[in-house]
Amino acid sequence: MDQNTLEKLKKEKNAVILAHYYVNGEVQAAADYVGDSFTLAKLATTIDANHIIMAGVEFMGETVKILNPDKQVYLPDPTADCPMAHMVTVEQIDAMREKYPDLAVVCYVNSTAEIKAKSDYCCTSSNAAKVVGAIESQNIFFIPDGNLGRNIEPLFPDKHFINNKGCCPIHDQVTPDMIKSLKEAYPDAVILAHPECKPEVLDLVDYKGSTKGIINAVKDLDREVNIIITEEGIRYELEKTYPDRTFIFPDLVCKGMKQVQLDDIIDILKTGKNEVHVDPSLAERAKLPLTRMLAICG
Ligand code: 13P
Ligand code: SF4
Repeated sequence: MDQNTLEKLKKEKNAVILAHYYVNGEVQAAADYVGDSFTLAKLATTIDANHIIMAGVEFMGETVKILNPDKQVYLPDPTADCPMAHMVTVEQIDAMREKYPDLAVVCYVNSTAEIKAKSDYCCTSSNAAKVVGAIESQNIFFIPDGNLGRNIEPLFPDKHFINNKGCCPIHDQVTPDMIKSLKEAYPDAVILAHPECKPEVLDLVDYKGSTKGIINAVKDLDREVNIIITEEGIRYELEKTYPDRTFIFPDLVCKGMKQVQLDDIIDILKTGKNEVHVDPSLAERAKLPLTRMLAICG
């Protein structure tokens, strides 16, 4: 389908397409907005259209629905999932609250609606430190991503972090040895990495930040060769933004993000399939940590 026909179909249906930087380039090209998790969550609260297609994994569709209970939200492939979203349980949260009465549960947005509903604050990789900085409690249970928790913990020497053991299986496979080999192979390059990587990996890089942060930092670091330590879908935006730069990627591919296909988006526009449903009372509870994040981070 050419771009004009797609635009016509979107207009007829009063639909917009949001996409994460990790989905395939052709899906990003078809989207009205492409962003990191925080940008997409924030945008989702400002959209006029009645139909929102969230080109990403399940928790992203749920997040948009929680923030827009009166709109129809769709996922191109409802089985496209983030394994990390399931790496913490309600029972773990309950047990931790019993142990620490002042506990603040800080939940990375890569989590299920059920887990958000039990949490105090949400955060994304771009604002985790800002969210924790706004919390008075001394004891912080950081879920589900233990790496992100460990990466921001040193910024808060007066707080006690309990970091859950979950991780992104894609970013967690990166090792310090991989970074050292890349440095040897490309001595003039800068290395930019996502904070879902282990702290010992981030210790060796030139920039650490969210996908959007990485895209912006390429300009600031201003180097010909850039080694990008995150999911390879971000290459589309990087090459569009910086056609004269060289980008080197290790082979980091998120299966869930790659399940998002343009054909399914077109089918949604034609048939209304794959609508996201979140139980309204669960959605109401899950909305609170998200709106707290939006209030703290603007
Ligand atoms: P950001 O969008 O915050 O960079 O996070 C990346 C991610 O893993 C989304 O699933
Ligand atoms: Fe989840 Fe990792 Fe895929 Fe992001 S890259 S959606 S954290 S599995």
